[in-house]
Parts: sequence; C-alpha cells; structure tokens
Amino acid sequence: MNKTVVIYESKYGFTKRYAESVSSALSCPIFTKKDFPVSAFGDYDTIIYGGGLYAGGISGVSLITKNFDLVRSKKLILFTCGLADPSDSKNAAHLQESMDKLLSEEMKKKIKVFHFRGGIDYAKLGFIHKSMMAMLRRAMLKKDPATLGAEGRQILETYGKAVDFTDLNSIRPLLQYIESN
Ligand SMILES: Cc1cc2nc3c(=O)[nH]c(=O)nc-3n(C[C@H](O)[C@H](O)[C@H](O)COP(=O)(O)O)c2cc1C
Repeated sequence: MNKTVVIYESKYGFTKRYAESVSSALSCPIFTKKDFPVSAFGDYDTIIYGGGLYAGGISGVSLITKNFDLVRSKKLILFTCGLADPSDSKNAAHLQESMDKLLSEEMKKKIKVFHFRGGIDYAKLGFIHKSMMAMLRRAMLKKDPATLGAEGRQILETYGKAVDFTDLNSIRPLLQYIESN
C-alpha cells in the first residue's frame, strides 16, 4: 500500500495553504515540520515536503536533506512557495540556481521539485524579516532599473504592501505526478 505524507514549514501561512490543499486532494496525513518525528519516515512510501522561500533557501528543508539516508529509497517531492513568479524564465533560472545550491546531485535526481507562488504581508513580518526586506530593497534601488529582473521589480513594486498570488490550481501538476509515478 502506498502511504503518503505531507510535511511543511510555513512562517506566514502561504505554504500551509498549498500543503493543506495537497493533503486534502490526496486524503493523506499532514504535519508541520516541527510536529513530524524523524522516526516516522519509515511509515511512508511517498514524502511531500513544502517550505517557503527565504533568501533562496527553503524553510525547513533540512528535514529532508539532513535525513536523506532515511528517505532516499522513497518517492520524494519538494515544493517551494515564494513571492517571485516561477513562470517567469529569469525567476525559474534563479530558482534552479538555488536548488543547485541546496540539493546534491543525487538529491536532484531523486527529488521532484515544484514551485508555487505565495505572497507577502509586510505588516505581519517579524523584525528580522522586515529588516532583510528593507536591505534587499535598498540594494535594488541602487541598481540601474533597466537591469532589474522580474524578481527585483516585484520586490520594489510590492514593498510595504500586502499581496497574495496564491493559486491553489497550480498544485495540479504535482498531483498528476503522484498519480502517474
Ligand atoms: C526575508 C524574506 C526573504 C524572502 N526571500 C524570497 C526569495 O528568495 N524568493 C522568493 O520567491 N520569495 C522570497 N520571500 C517571499 C516568501 O517566500 C513568501 O512570502 C512566501 O509566501 C512565504 O511563505 P510562508 O508564509 O509559507 O513561509 C521572502 C520573504 C522574506 C520575508
């Protein structure tokens, strides 16, 4: 029997919505990373991990990368949730660079990765995240606007605001992948 689990870490709730949607579509259990005991990996054949993108890193992904020995024989799916539009080719290339840094060659072969779009609400950001975004904005403002990619423009356009690009229909390719593999 194929047992599937969704595990996620979400700081402001965007990844959580995708994780809940995937778990409800697959009628499978869902855990936050914090509540998932590593000893429970053995109970599942398919592991779906989701985390928000923070400065190119994936929130909580070390649960998979640090415990890769425990999960390498399983079907592994990773999804990210970020502000940048993953359908933009420059953003997609940037995301690929981040994945190349986070995942080893073996991990990249074994883990199927999907990117979803979340949002941001500056009013809800914690102090450190607010300061990081302010620094990023200052760096973007110093650049020649003509050289700013979609991601840079996005940061400047949405700075200080609340935006939500969540599209729960975008989980379809992930569900199709699970069904066909
Ligand atoms: C400090 C900080 C860094 C971020 N870095 C990225 C990034 O590198 N790429 C991106 O697409 N989004 C980035 N974001 C946006 C988050 O990924 C986005 O808000 C996401 O929806 C958060 O999901 P969560 O609420 O589930 O944690 C960043 C947000 C903050 C506050």
